[in-house]
Parts: sequence; C-alpha cells; structure tokens
Amino acid sequence: MENIGFGVIGTGIWGEAHAKIFASHPHSQLMAVCDLEADKARQVAENYGASSWYTDYEELLARSDIQAVGIATPDFAHRDAFIAACKAGKHILLEKPLATSHEDLAAMRKAYEESGVRVMVDFHARWNPPLYIAWQNIREGSLGKLISMYYRLNDILYVPTKMLSWAAKSSILWFLGSHTIDTLRFFAGNEVKRVYSVSRSEVLEKKGIHVPDIYQSILEFEDGVIATIENNWIIPDTNPHWNDIKLNILGERGMINMDLTGNQAFERYLPDKSDHPDILVMPTIHGKPMGFAHESIRDFIDRLHNGKEFLVGFEDGYRVSKVVLAIMDSARNRMPVEVEY
Ligand SMILES: NC(=O)c1ccc[n+]([C@@H]2O[C@H](COP(=O)([O-])OP(=O)(O)OC[C@H]3O[C@@H](n4cnc5c(N)ncnc54)[C@H](O)[C@@H]3O)[C@@H](O)[C@H]2O)c1
Repeated sequence: MENIGFGVIGTGIWGEAHAKIFASHPHSQLMAVCDLEADKARQVAENYGASSWYTDYEELLARSDIQAVGIATPDFAHRDAFIAACKAGKHILLEKPLATSHEDLAAMRKAYEESGVRVMVDFHARWNPPLYIAWQNIREGSLGKLISMYYRLNDILYVPTKMLSWAAKSSILWFLGSHTIDTLRFFAGNEVKRVYSVSRSEVLEKKGIHVPDIYQSILEFEDGVIATIENNWIIPDTNPHWNDIKLNILGERGMINMDLTGNQAFERYLPDKSDHPDILVMPTIHGKPMGFAHESIRDFIDRLHNGKEFLVGFEDGYRVSKVVLAIMDSARNRMPVEVEY
C-alpha cells in the first residue's frame, strides 16, 4: 500500500494521540480531523498539520484522499461513527471499548462484516513491555500450565470526576475493565465462559456520578483457568500515577508478580514536590512520541501498510464487550452469568 491518508474523529485526549502518530509516521499523512467542538478540531488540526477540520464526520468520511480513520469518541458514542466509517469504506482504528451495549455490538458487527474494511481495536496493553514479556513466558511454557491470574487495574478519582465529562455514561468496567479482560484473554489464549461479580456504589454516587465505584469479579476461562479482577474508579488522587496496577500470574511450575503502580522505577524529588514522571506509557524521547500507548497506533499504520493481520481485531473487541456486559449483569443480580458471544 502507498502512503495512507488518515483522519481522526473525536479530537479529545486520546484522539490527539492518534493525530500525533498519524502525523509523524513515515507511511501516513494526517489529512483532516473532526470533533463536535470546533475549537478542539481546529486546534488539533493546527498542532499536527492537518489541512482541514470538520464538526461533522460525514464530511471527513466523504474525502477520497482519506483511506483510514481513528475513532476516539467517548465510550458510549462509538457506534454511529464506526458504522459510517464502514459504509464509507475506511479502515478503522477504534478506541476501546468496542461498544457498550448488545444492540450497538450487533449493529457494528453487521456493518463491519458487510464492509470489507480492516478494523483494529486499541487495546494497547498488548504493547506494554512487562505485560508482553509475561505473555511470552506463558507462551514459552516457563510457568507450566496456567492455573490462575489476579489483576487489579484502578484509576484515581480525578479521572471520573474531573478528566472525563462523560464518566456517568461509562463505568470503570468499560474504561479500564475492558483492558483487564483483553489482557487476561491474551495471557490465557482462550475465552471467558462464566463470570461472577459484585459491585459497590458509595463515593461516586454521592458526587452525582451514578456508576459503581468498584467491581470485584471472578472469571472462569474455557480451559479452566480462573482469574480474579478488581476495577475501581476511586483511588485517592495522591496515588503516584493515574493507575493502580498489580498482577499475579500463577502456573503449575512458576509465577510472575507485577507492581506497575506509579512508575516506581523513576522517583523525582524537587524542592516543592516529588513525583514519578511517565517513562512507559507515552513519553517523548529525542522529540519522538514513544511508549506503548503510541506504539499500538504506530503498529496499526505499519500493518495497514504491509498488509499483515492486526494484533487486536474486531472479534477481540466484540468478545471483551460481551464479557463486560456479563459482569455488569452478574453484579446487578448477584448471580454467576454464562457469557454469550
Ligand atoms: N487506548 C486507551 O487506553 C485509551 C486511553 C484513554 C481513552 N481511551 C478511549 O478513547 C475514547 C475517547 O476518550 P478521551 O479520553 O479522548 O475522551 P474526550 O472526552 O477527551 O474526547 C472525546 C471527544 O469526542 C468528541 N465527540 C463526541 N462525539 C463526537 C462525534 N459524533 N463526532 C465527532 N466528535 C465527537 C468530543 O467532543 C470530545 O472532544 C474513549 O472511548 C476512551 O475510553 C482509550
């Protein structure tokens, strides 16, 4: 494939990351961006050299010099832009989660299957070096048969209360739980068949954000592996990093432990503060956007260009959303739920 013309739909925090990589990769050119808010679209177009910006994605999708789009609208608003991009024949990098309802999933699957476009879902944890190395150890058999996994992936309170204007229309399960589930599917190499979850609503409820603070869930995989996952949106803002991350992977012969909370490998002490600057997710090194969150977007361009299969496709996103919906169902009814794909 020749150099590819790209567009971005939704130029908030993450759409800007798409624009940055589309604008800097040797095989891509950022042609246009779109956001409902004109100022955001104009600013991102100016910052990353796109010649046009729009507030209606149909105008962007109508351009013949755009072959692929990044879609980074809020969690609950992926369906319409995705279906429109499929109909316009554009390849798609869709932000996670793929969709947040059974109805959206069905409509998106239909549009995807009818379109022939290529779709990657941006579960960028698969490019996170410690998680990738854990996966490699599991695949090579150094831990023996996988027995169980524990994964705690939480956000500080700032995220649902100040960063995301649409937190009440999503949940920690969509925002981070979807990453948790995708990573555990990646490790296990098979699908979740049954879930059992409990949730609790205290802190966010009192702030008028009507979604649970926390879900604690048990997942059973087809091959018998069991996983315990915890996802909460109420970690104190004084946590050294936005996320609070701990993992344990237990095999019959070995075990891996990870504490990825807060870039603890790099501590900075200044006269007025101490902190842990980002060294892993999206640092800029010698002027180049690096880190696993940028690497997944770069990989989308590479694979679109060289024709190789995407590492995380439509089906992965679809299955993860089905597991999240089953967990929510289980937490509501305090009953185990079989996942129906
Ligand atoms: N890969 C990751 O780990 C990762 C990290 C952060 C966010 N995300 C995902 O990226 C998506 C966006 O998150 P964000 O933090 O950038 O949110 P955001 O609120 O900062 O940005 C969303 C933007 O979409 C725009 N928008 C909404 N509807 C639109 C429409 N119909 N047409 C054009 N623009 C529209 C909004 O105006 C807003 O500017 C979410 O799905 C989120 O879960 C993924």
